[in-house]
Amino acid sequence: MNPCIRFLGFSVLVVGFLISCSYSENQTEKTDLITNEQMVEDNDKALLLIKTNCFTCHNPDLKIANRVAPPLFQIREHYLGNETTQNGFITAIINFLSNPTEENSIMPEAVRNFGLMPKMTFKDEDIKLIATYLYNNDISSDEWYKKWEAFEKKTLQTPPEINYEDLGRNIANETKANLGKNLMAAVKKKGAAGAVEFCNTRAIPITDSMAVVLNATIKRVSDKPRNPINQANENELEYIENWRIAKTKGEKYSPKIFELNSKIVGYYPIETNEMCMKCHGIPKKQINTQTLSAIKKLYPNDKAFGYAENEIRGIFIVIMEKK
Ligand code: HEC
Ligand code: HEC
Repeated sequence: MNPCIRFLGFSVLVVGFLISCSYSENQTEKTDLITNEQMVEDNDKALLLIKTNCFTCHNPDLKIANRVAPPLFQIREHYLGNETTQNGFITAIINFLSNPTEENSIMPEAVRNFGLMPKMTFKDEDIKLIATYLYNNDISSDEWYKKWEAFEKKTLQTPPEINYEDLGRNIANETKANLGKNLMAAVKKKGAAGAVEFCNTRAIPITDSMAVVLNATIKRVSDKPRNPINQANENELEYIENWRIAKTKGEKYSPKIFELNSKIVGYYPIETNEMCMKCHGIPKKQINTQTLSAIKKLYPNDKAFGYAENEIRGIFIVIMEKK
């Protein structure tokens, strides 16, 4: 999946939250107003998160070819089941997104058809916003689809109103979703061994064509790179090491945001799950011999194997223009 990756730019579409300010002499009305505004704002935030993080794979348009994941409304229906409470629903979604494994899946047929979903890294409050939105909105209805189309239009027209840390996370996750989507499609079509080669030859042209609409630059680095070009430097190694230390203590480690040469730089961890083991797990046990020889041929100095689930595989570096 090389990008598959080197310098990859994406224009990020972000919404400004349009909230009209009204004033009321009446205290109760004012509180109601704030609650409603908060709901509109949360809905817009959730929809933006879903747009940048989920729809790349869970495309709501049923007519698209080469689907790599079930549409989100099907997943919603499955998770709603017969009598799920809001809390039960939210907990189940958070549970899967925090660690997409076969054990945590309640849709084994989706895993069989598409392969397991790659892991993405979110803020807890963002996953909760997404799950709450999915519980409260019937995203299979025509009415919702109209709202969605209007929202898409609005995000194209309104400039971003978002802090650097969240902006960088959106860029990193949107990139990850795109890489993941292409990777999954290749694995499905050609198997893991074929996908290694696919990445090596097709990923850069795909990446370059996206860089044309570029608003930020992004690359992936690792302390144990497969491609030597992706070797982390001293600062990046320090971040990766600190993430590992925090993990052993059971603590969360935040992204790092700093200014460099009049640009804003963000580091975001890239974590493994089961899905990565076919190419980054234990040789011969998880990486089959065919895949292994495809990797060895292209990357004689490969260091990116022997990983387990829920480890840090590397980081995304997102370089943003200053606002
Ligand atoms: C890179 C592609 C990709 C992206 C991006 C993605 N998913 Fe998935 N997702 C999948 C695939 C493939 C499946 C089906 C296999 C599975 O269940 O793991 C899936 C399944 C799921 C499931 C069902 C899990 C189960 O098996 O019980 C949920 C819930 C889910 N996704 C939620 C989300 C949400 C919410 C987002 C956005 C925050 C998202 N996904 C982003 C690929 C993706
Ligand atoms: C089909 C095999 C395959 C799978 C599955 C796969 N990778 Fe990779 N990965 C590669 C290849 C090949 C490269 C080298 C890309 C390059 O040349 O830049 C790579 C490179 C990377 C890099 C860049 C640093 C480096 O080592 O060069 C990261 C980070 C990474 N993979 C993370 C992941 C994560 C996380 C997953 C699971 C969600 C995953 N990969 C799944 C094949 C795979």
